[in-house]
Amino acid sequence: MSGEISRAPLRSLLFVPGDSERKLLKAEASGADALILDLEDSVASSRTAIARELVLEYLHAHRQRDFQLWVRINPLSTPAALLDLAIVAGAPDGLMLPKVDSAADVARLANMLDALEVRDGLAFGGIAILPVATETPASLFTVGSYAGCSPRLAGLTWGAEDITAALGASSNREANGEYNHLCTLARTLCLTGAAAAGVQSIDTIWADFADIDGLAEEARQARQRGFTGKLAIHPGQVEVINRAFTPSAEEIAWSQRVVQAFEASPGVGTLGLDGKMLDMPHLKQARRILSTARILA
Ligand code: COA
Ligand code: MG
Repeated sequence: MSGEISRAPLRSLLFVPGDSERKLLKAEASGADALILDLEDSVASSRTAIARELVLEYLHAHRQRDFQLWVRINPLSTPAALLDLAIVAGAPDGLMLPKVDSAADVARLANMLDALEVRDGLAFGGIAILPVATETPASLFTVGSYAGCSPRLAGLTWGAEDITAALGASSNREANGEYNHLCTLARTLCLTGAAAAGVQSIDTIWADFADIDGLAEEARQARQRGFTGKLAIHPGQVEVINRAFTPSAEEIAWSQRVVQAFEASPGVGTLGLDGKMLDMPHLKQARRILSTARILA
């Protein structure tokens, strides 16, 4: 894989409980690159049917939009998932698929979407898939399985809560606030699995929505490690996340200098700039930053 990401980068993806008319309304002005209308864990099972109706209505009412609309459906292993797929008729940009065990789950959902898009008269292949790739114990052993599983695969994301609960662990953080060993492993596997598949890597939520400084620091660190975006749970988190995943003026200037230095020395594989060695990985990184900046502009 080249490591080049082909789809428009999603910096911020804001969860909105699908049964809350108030939050659905509020989310429109959040500035998120994508909303994830939730039919899964933020909706009580007694309200899932109402949520499906509201989400489908919302999709129909927002055909014209300058942000993406995604829907988190229930896990494919549950009958609820099939009922959730009624919302495909509203032509979402993508589906988030929770609690996958491996890329085979993505391939299964992709097959269903092939049929449903034809039935509903939608553009074939238009609906993307974002699996939550670390929520089951089995999934941690298959995070490297996603390359080539479906052209619908838009990225990988990870979750700390469900894998923690699945193992019977009582916490996902250490006393100093850092992720514990299990979550650090899951997070790194998500990042590496996404890179291996050539898709976006989306960091998980920052749950403490009152702590904006903590979020800013985690988002900064996530981008530095290679993540391309981050999930949000509250509108107040969106701006901080967008900023963290937008190349800064300094980064753009540096990237331009790196590209120019190599262009000025055709056939040269390594050179020095400001007293530091540059070679192909630096050029690749500089090009990636410039391409992200171009797309976002
Ligand atoms: N999307 C849209 N609007 C949201 C929102 C969201 N995710 N989270 C909060 N808001 C709205 C609230 O409705 C409130 O609007 P109002 O002033 O018109 O009533 C405003 O933003 C301020 O919210 P606040 O009072 O700070 O938070 P809260 O206590 O109402 O809600 C949560 C806190 C965590 C319940 C809420 O943020 C939420 O539902 N987040 C999404 C949870 C989710 O989807 N989880 C699944 C993935 S892990
Ligand atoms: Mg969950």
